[in-house]
Amino acid sequence: MIESKILVAPSILAADFSALAEETHRVEAAGADWIHLDIMDGHFVDNISFGPGVVATVRKHTKLPLDVHLMIEHPDHYAPRFAEAGANSITVHVEPEAKHNVAETLQAIRDAGCRAALSLNPATPFESVEPYLTSIDLLLIMTVYPGFGGQAFRAEMMEKVKRAREWQRAQGAALDIEVDGGINAETAKLSIDNGANVLVAGTSIFRSGNYRVAIAELRGSG
Ligand code: DX5
Ligand code: ZN
Repeated sequence: MIESKILVAPSILAADFSALAEETHRVEAAGADWIHLDIMDGHFVDNISFGPGVVATVRKHTKLPLDVHLMIEHPDHYAPRFAEAGANSITVHVEPEAKHNVAETLQAIRDAGCRAALSLNPATPFESVEPYLTSIDLLLIMTVYPGFGGQAFRAEMMEKVKRAREWQRAQGAALDIEVDGGINAETAKLSIDNGANVLVAGTSIFRSGNYRVAIAELRGSG
């Protein structure tokens, strides 16, 4: 059933920030495909993480694609700064609380030379992203409410993953389907079985004793 290679994107939100360069090197050496960077502004979500400066620092320490997830208001204003900091893909949220024109922001992300991606929260219906599916490279289906690492996976979200994969197959579109939140070996398998091909994971990698084993297990080859 798996049509594309499964990609694993460790979220450095769960890394040891006092050793960010080493943590980045370690996950790269352990087989990570992308590095996921969670940007939180204390408005769109109830937490504050880090900004373009940290993204630029990580950029200096890896050749892997940087997958930047903007959980912020006015992502249209900030996306160019993350592109400049070295992002390869930039994900914005579809919810009105993000306060931007989604179509225009996606175009601006493209214009800045990045892959354009869209995300939806657990409470947001799949229909909200449908109008944009032809204008994105990646759909990020949140499997927890964004804001914090270490939360429990919401299996109900698999319905959206399935619908996204059905749409992708019907169109033959080049769309990556990514899941984020509570991903471990077990929930990764469920997500893959439902059609996800990119797995974001913070806790299950960085809190494991062995990054290589943790990443291989997520991919289903552990
Ligand atoms: C949640 C973030 C996630 C988070 C995942 O708001 O978008 O990327 O870091 O962390 P875990 O894997 O611990 O659920
Ligand atoms: Zn994320």
